[in-house]
Amino acid sequence: MTQPAPKRLYIKTYGCQMNVYDSERMADVLRPLGYGMTDHPEGADLVVLNTCHIREKAAEKVFSELGKLKVMKQEKAAAGDGVMTIAVAGCVAQAQGQEIRARQPAVDLVVGPQAYHQLPELIARSHRASGVALAADFTPEDKFDALPKDRTASGVTAFLTVQEGCDKFCTFCVVPYTRGGEFSRPAADILTEARSLASQGVREVTLLGQNVNAFTGGLGNLVRRLAEIPGLDRIRYTTSHPRDMDDDLIAAHAEVPALMPYLHLPVQSGSDRILKAMNRGHTAAHYLSLLERIRAARPDLALSGDFIVGFPGETDKDFEATLDLVRAATFASAFSFKYSRRPGTPASAMPGQVAEEAKDERLAALNALLDEQQRAFNAAQVGRTLDVLFEKPGRYPDQVVGRSPYLQAVHVSGTADLIGRIVPVTIQSAAKMSLARNFENQLEPA
Ligand code: 5AD
Ligand code: SF4
Repeated sequence: MTQPAPKRLYIKTYGCQMNVYDSERMADVLRPLGYGMTDHPEGADLVVLNTCHIREKAAEKVFSELGKLKVMKQEKAAAGDGVMTIAVAGCVAQAQGQEIRARQPAVDLVVGPQAYHQLPELIARSHRASGVALAADFTPEDKFDALPKDRTASGVTAFLTVQEGCDKFCTFCVVPYTRGGEFSRPAADILTEARSLASQGVREVTLLGQNVNAFTGGLGNLVRRLAEIPGLDRIRYTTSHPRDMDDDLIAAHAEVPALMPYLHLPVQSGSDRILKAMNRGHTAAHYLSLLERIRAARPDLALSGDFIVGFPGETDKDFEATLDLVRAATFASAFSFKYSRRPGTPASAMPGQVAEEAKDERLAALNALLDEQQRAFNAAQVGRTLDVLFEKPGRYPDQVVGRSPYLQAVHVSGTADLIGRIVPVTIQSAAKMSLARNFENQLEPA
């Protein structure tokens, strides 16, 4: 695991033994972000004053120290040596909160004793607010970070980026550090691009964003406007966060026929303890009740998700809770990952890192259950007639491949003139990854 480039951290501790202990904890949570201790504040990248309220004039001492730091901060910037971030922690921070920033604007963040684990997030937010460049230490195109590529219309389907970035700060994830804050493209630009795609023969767009359903102005509203574009018959979106699944978007699933009955809604874990450590901002019960509301709007919805096994501290019992959630939710498809330590993310330094063998076992057990659900979902389509949008020739002569509304690949015997058309197809057979009509012996390997 390569560590981010070293950054200098200076912590000044006032007061009691408790504060000494807390300063050590702060150094611990900052280490995975690449911060190493220095014993002088000059030139430091991050200065933390861990304050104490007990003695008289404690606050005054802090403000006089902050006055000196302000000068050092200006000197560092003037020398072209980057930004000095100044944080006030401890009891004065607790007691005086935002007053501190009002009185000394050089202070970037104030953090109370209960919130030290949030320091990486608070620092990233403060850097964003002051326009500090995004973390360059992460490998670009981290495999968990990349969205599918936008493509210009070369076929029947296209991706269309509507949103980028993330404000959620899941503790395992690099995206908030590499992609910055949530940012939505103007709806007018998106609609213009969608019209242009439709005029080039695109019949299906997939709206893309790291938190696509956090789209400003409401994704449901955007979907309704896109559905009015002539020729655009299918709309999908990915990836969604459970916290941003609002009522209007759920209603759009009931009301907009072009919005396909497929939803990628990552849950990551079924254990509330682990979800909390992941900073997901939802519990397993929230996820399931949200799902109930979405399925009330669109009963045939195909659900997809992401899972992480072996997050730090995950026990067999936590993992069982994930299996229980999968059984309760029922997935039509899913992506599961072994937890992998990303330097610079809070979870990379959490205690209780799980052994590789345990991760392997859990991944295999989870995948077995998810595969079973996927096969059952596909098998349930046999005998049904589904609208298929044909996209390309198949691997065999006179075979064409398209997608069902549920994003299943459908193979049929037919000629290339089917491509670009939406045709009802009665499904004759099913495998794990695909459905077929007339091609039972020539399915892609499952
Ligand atoms: N380890 C394992 N999986 C991860 N993901 C993101 N970061 C990590 C990590 N450090 C997974 C999540 C996310 C998907 C895109 O990648 O499940 O939803
Ligand atoms: Fe990463 Fe998604 Fe969590 Fe954002 S919501 S931090 S992109 S996993």
